[in-house]
Amino acid sequence: MSSDRFKGKGVLISGGAGGLGSEIARRFVAEGANIGIMDTNEVAIQTLVSELSKTGAKVAGAKVDVRDSQDVTKAVDQLAKNIGTVDILVAAAGGSLGTPRDLDDISDDDFDLVIDVNVKGTFNCARAVIPHLKKSNGGSIITFSSIGGRSASPVTGVPYATAKAAILGLTRRLAKEVGEFNIRVNAIAPGLFLTDRLEGMFEKMSKSEQDEVINAIPLKRMPRLQECVEPVLFLASNESSYITGTVLDVNGGRLMAN
Ligand SMILES: NC(=O)c1ccc[n+]([C@@H]2O[C@H](COP(=O)([O-])OP(=O)(O)OC[C@H]3O[C@@H](n4cnc5c(N)ncnc54)[C@H](O)[C@@H]3O)[C@@H](O)[C@H]2O)c1
Repeated sequence: MSSDRFKGKGVLISGGAGGLGSEIARRFVAEGANIGIMDTNEVAIQTLVSELSKTGAKVAGAKVDVRDSQDVTKAVDQLAKNIGTVDILVAAAGGSLGTPRDLDDISDDDFDLVIDVNVKGTFNCARAVIPHLKKSNGGSIITFSSIGGRSASPVTGVPYATAKAAILGLTRRLAKEVGEFNIRVNAIAPGLFLTDRLEGMFEKMSKSEQDEVINAIPLKRMPRLQECVEPVLFLASNESSYITGTVLDVNGGRLMAN
């Protein structure tokens, strides 16, 4: 399915070469957007940029570590030039980044890495993008929390829970600050989505462990990646024009928060 919902809009995606980020990029392009990809994975950036450029959209990539605020600002400014305008930021760079789950195994560096990429990275990208959104007379920022930041997850550890909860505070406070510029800021909090990286992990689990995961989900099935992508596009679109400072849980009912 393709449409012109985002025709001529500029979208920057941090972590845009990753499992969810790349699917989000494909969907935006299918709906008319131009895309700037920010990621540390240069090979994956190049592969995605060359794939998406074939559609005729303006597509550019920048290898950048979101922890470095100066590099992020440079990358955002360059990508804005490349694709013409910036109207939307999807701040998806993050994850537990291979760090251990259990307290005794977590080093100081592990904790710093997870906080810095997820929280500081989201802040750095948002702060660098806001002047561009003001120039566009408004826009939408979508941050990535997680079910692991909304409740105590059995899968991820304290650093990830801390980071993904912090992103909710960041989202609300930023939404308050930039609302007067017609800039909306909302978080998405996915449950488990089996990207290529996580699919291997899930397949290695025993049938009974897999059943346990699925039985905890009222919808009784794992989601398709598109079922995370569509809610992100909803928060980016005018269909959510009066929604800001909120979090959208996308977890099949596994967590029903107040
Ligand atoms: N997949 C899930 O089940 C799930 C669930 C809840 C939340 N999330 C969140 O969704 C977001 C995307 O997750 P994903 O599953 O696509 O992960 P992923 O690992 O496939 O993609 C993350 C991308 O971020 C990039 N990245 C990592 N560190 C970076 C840095 N310092 N600077 C710039 N880029 C960096 C990686 O290279 C990768 O391309 C993450 O924030 C994650 O925490 C994912």
